[in-house]
Amino acid sequence: MRYDRSPPQDDTHLDGVWEVKQRIRREEGYLCQTWEFFSSSYERNTGHVVLKGGDVAGNGEEGGEEVVGFAVVRGDGYILFLGVEPDRRGEGIGTSLVELAAEDHDKLTCHTRDSNEGAVEFYRNLGFEVERYVESYYQDGEAARYMVRDDRGSLKSRITDAIIGED
Ligand SMILES: CC(C)(COP(=O)(O)OP(=O)(O)OC[C@H]1O[C@@H](n2cnc3c(N)ncnc32)[C@H](O)[C@@H]1OP(=O)(O)O)[C@@H](O)C(=O)NCCC(=O)NCCS
Repeated sequence: MRYDRSPPQDDTHLDGVWEVKQRIRREEGYLCQTWEFFSSSYERNTGHVVLKGGDVAGNGEEGGEEVVGFAVVRGDGYILFLGVEPDRRGEGIGTSLVELAAEDHDKLTCHTRDSNEGAVEFYRNLGFEVERYVESYYQDGEAARYMVRDDRGSLKSRITDAIIGED
């Protein structure tokens, strides 16, 4: 597997990301955004993309690469979209995508559908907490949980501060 970071304006992986997103929508009913909304959000923000395949023939020629997971993250650390190919769940791909986003941001935030218990559990495992409940957040009227992970006061940054402060 390979990781690629798509800065704003880079739509190299947009079609592959859209395919995974649409499969999740069809099979699970999450990530229901339209192409217009999704593609313009993707193009204006940073994409983190996990790919499999490529150079399958071993002859140095790229080809046959497929997207297996993606995160699209706004400049303020808000996770707009996160999805992993259903056949590739439980391998740590979702975790890697969130941790890659965390390299750019001390504070990460997101909304999850009220019914999406799996996503809430997933984010909780990664240190997110539900900060508030938002009634009728989604177009279909479903509520959302606004979740936050703020690493600024974490043990890691306190240790880093202490070490830096020793000089
Ligand atoms: C949420 C999602 C991105 C997780 O991806 P993933 O690659 O399977 O996640 P990981 O393999 O990194 O799992 C990390 C941990 O979260 C837990 N977890 C993941 N999905 C879970 C679920 N549905 N229910 C309970 N726990 C879950 C895993 O058990 C794992 O815990 P462990 O380390 O103790 O085993 C994926 O399920 C998905 O694409 N869901 C549909 C879209 C969605 O809900 N997106 C997020 C909201 S927009």
